[in-house]
Parts: sequence; structure tokens; C-alpha cells
Amino acid sequence: MALRILLADPNEEWIDSAKKYLEEQLYQVDVVGNGKDAQLALYNAKFFAVVLNMEIKDHSGPQVLRFLKTNHPSQNVVAIYKPMTEEEKSLSDEIIDEETLKKSGATEVLELPFEMSALHDCLEGHQSLGDMMQALDKSEGQREEEEVKSEDEEYTSVKIDEFYTSKAVLFDVYIKLGTGRYLKILHAGDQFSKERIDKYKNEKKVEHLFFHVRDRRKYIQYTNFLADKLINTKGIGTDKKLSMLKNASEKFLEESFQEGMKPQIMEQGKQVAENVYNLIEKDENLFKALRDWQDFDPNAYTHAYLTTVFAAAIIKRFEWQSKTTIEAAAMACLFHDVGMTKLPKELLEKKEADFTDEDWVEFKKHPELGAKMFEGNRNVGQSVQQIILQHHEYYDGSGFPYGKRGSKILTLSNIVCCADDFAECIVETGEKPVDALKIFLKRSEQMKRYNSRIVECLIKSFVDPEKIIKENALPSNSRVLANKKAS
Ligand SMILES: [Fe+2]
Ligand SMILES: [Fe+2]
Repeated sequence: MALRILLADPNEEWIDSAKKYLEEQLYQVDVVGNGKDAQLALYNAKFFAVVLNMEIKDHSGPQVLRFLKTNHPSQNVVAIYKPMTEEEKSLSDEIIDEETLKKSGATEVLELPFEMSALHDCLEGHQSLGDMMQALDKSEGQREEEEVKSEDEEYTSVKIDEFYTSKAVLFDVYIKLGTGRYLKILHAGDQFSKERIDKYKNEKKVEHLFFHVRDRRKYIQYTNFLADKLINTKGIGTDKKLSMLKNASEKFLEESFQEGMKPQIMEQGKQVAENVYNLIEKDENLFKALRDWQDFDPNAYTHAYLTTVFAAAIIKRFEWQSKTTIEAAAMACLFHDVGMTKLPKELLEKKEADFTDEDWVEFKKHPELGAKMFEGNRNVGQSVQQIILQHHEYYDGSGFPYGKRGSKILTLSNIVCCADDFAECIVETGEKPVDALKIFLKRSEQMKRYNSRIVECLIKSFVDPEKIIKENALPSNSRVLANKKAS
């Protein structure tokens, strides 16, 4: 059953084209041209979302919005408005801008003119898993496989063993036959068929499944939902949970890097961060899993996830840790190197060993560039920006961009810095984390970058918590850690 949308707009031409567009996206669309009819429609039917042009008359836009806030407070409302000129503002007794509309109950606000795809984004972003299920055109069994030709950039992949799906498949799933050639092996709405997947895995040695990038958000949402459920389930291995979160976080980063940091996407990021936090907080066997876990086929996003996991594991050992602290750190970890995307391509393709002096100057700009990208982003707190800005400041003052030292550096930034370097060490050495730790600790020059308490917490995350004797006195930073054994 399709999700139902109410379009309330005085412009007939626009409303016709919007209706057509949304129906193509499989929504069921009702249209009204005035405010009275909009309220009447809301009396008679339930809608997934109301798209309301504030210029509507005969019960004005603000009136309808007030009606919705009072009578349907949980209704998704996309408010469309034309920005007022200064003169209009001075003449009007009701100011209409993004802030007032959100205060009056709009879930999303679109400023005219906008692309139809922006409206689609707003609507998709508010679909809960239940909504997605409801919108599926479900079929009893599985439909025939079907070959399609399209651009490779339109698809994204996951490892066949790490593909999680609901019973009714949420979106089309493909295998790749060759450049620009795909075979749809499951249709959205089909009953999931493990046999079909296994056939490709075992008989045809298929390693990856593909889906359309426009469905990536659904995949992230589903994986997040599943991870949240499974984190508290005993009998499922910690390594499996870590892999699932890795999947969600990688697809989330891919989505936000390619589609931009849109509010709906950031919400998913918070969910990823919360799941990482919950797993690390609750899992009693985490230390065992961290020792052996080896799932690092290095891709652009693995590094960010590893950094997140180890930073969260370090923070867990601090007394002052709180949910908000870890979440801010987890978000900052996921995005700590986002500023790199603003650096010249040639630089990113080079190895650090080949950097010229000018390259280093450029490279050292990435913390500031990254922090800037979050400026004014209301979905991400200021602490996230600060952590990103300082993630290369070193405890001994030799870091960048400001060369801050010791307590002048945010502890969370120093934690991210340590986790970042450790994650790098794991990927670079290709060792299991516990073996990489031994190598990492021997890098005595590097050890000067972090408060020794942080290194100690990193070590402790590999140790059975029952074997850790609670120490009251904190070690001083002068303590030599380079020879410390990992276990
Ligand atoms: Fe960095
Ligand atoms: Fe990094």
C-alpha cells in the first residue's frame, strides 16, 4: 500500500506536476487548492505527510499549520514558502521564515524555488521502517530475475555475507555481471530468498551484492534498526555486531559524502553513533573481540569506523564518560577527516612519504576545513566541530593547526587523535588489533602525542575488565609507556 501525501498548493500547474512526480515515486497523492479543503481532507483521511504552500488562501497557510499543530501534532508537514523581502517583513504582522515555520510545527521547510528532488528527499527522510514496509508492493514469493543496464556510479555494494534484509526485501538487489550490466536477483517487496543468495554465493562465487544509491538510505536505516535490536541479544558474536555497525557506518559516510550533510542523513549518523556507543558500553566480551577482530578490507571509510570504535573503547574507561560525550566523539570520529575531501585530488593520491613541504602545508589544513563544513549545521553540536578541529593537536605541542599543548587540547580530541593513529597502525601493518597495539606502543615518538592516561585506557580495552585493578592515583604523563605490554 502506497504512502499517502496531501498536497495543498494554490498553483494548479505546479500541483499537477508535483502529483505526477510523486506518483512516479510510488506515493498516493491527494491535492487541494485551498486551506479549507486541506483541513477537510485531514478530517477524513490519514496522511504520511502534508506538503503545504504557505501562500494558500481561504484558511491561510499559517492557519492550517496551527490547525495541524493542535489536532495532528505528530503529522509530518513540509512547509513551502517564499522568503519575504525586508519591506514585506516590515508591512506584515506575521513573519514567515524557516525558524518561525519550524516553531509552528513544520517538520521540514522548503524555500521557493526548489527542485522536485528536494521535496522527495524531505519525504524519504521521514519514512520510518514501518512506513517503508507499508509502501512496499509485497509479493508472495520471488519474481523472475531480470537483467538491467545502467551506469556503475548508480550502484553501491556490500559483501554478500554482510547483507541484512527484512523478510520482505526493502529494495531491489542486484549482482554485477560486468561493466554497466546488472542482474536483479531480488525485487523490492519479494520474500527474501536465502536460497537464491546462497546459490550465487556458493555456485557462482559471487562476493558482493549491489543496490541503487537512492536506496542506500533505506539500507542504513534498516541496518541501524537491526543493530539496535541485536546489540542486546546474547548469542550473537561481538565480531558480528561490530561488522554490522561497520556496514552501517560505511554506507552512512558514503551517503553523506556523496549527497551532502542533509539533516535526515545526519539523524541516521546519530543512530550509528548511538549504536556504536551501546555496543561498546554493554558488551562484556568486547575486549576479546577487539583482540582478534580482523575485518579491515581497507576502503575509504574503514579508517573512520575503526577510529570510532577505538575512541569509544577508550572513553568507556574514563569516569566522566556520558552518552552525549561518546556520541559527540563518535560523530567527530566518523567525520574527523572530512576536511580531506576539500583538498586537491593529486594530494590525496600521494603517499605521505612523498609529500613536499607545500603538500604538508595543504594537508595540515584538513582539520580546519572539516570543522568549517559543520559550521551552522544545527544537527551537529559545537563539540563535534571542536574535536575535528583539534584532532591533530599533540600533547607535546608538536601538532597542528595551532600547536596547542597539554591541557590546552580537549581530552576528547586527544582521544580521537590516539584512536586515529592506532586505526592507521592497524590498517598499515595488517595485524590483528592486539598485535598492532604492541607495534603501536613501541613508537615512542608518537606516544608523546597523547596524554598517557589515554594510552592506558586504550591498553585496558584489550584486557578482561575483571582483571583490571581499580587504581585511584592517575598515572602522570612522564611515565614511560613505550615498553608496556598489551596484555
Ligand atoms: Fe586527520
Ligand atoms: Fe584520520
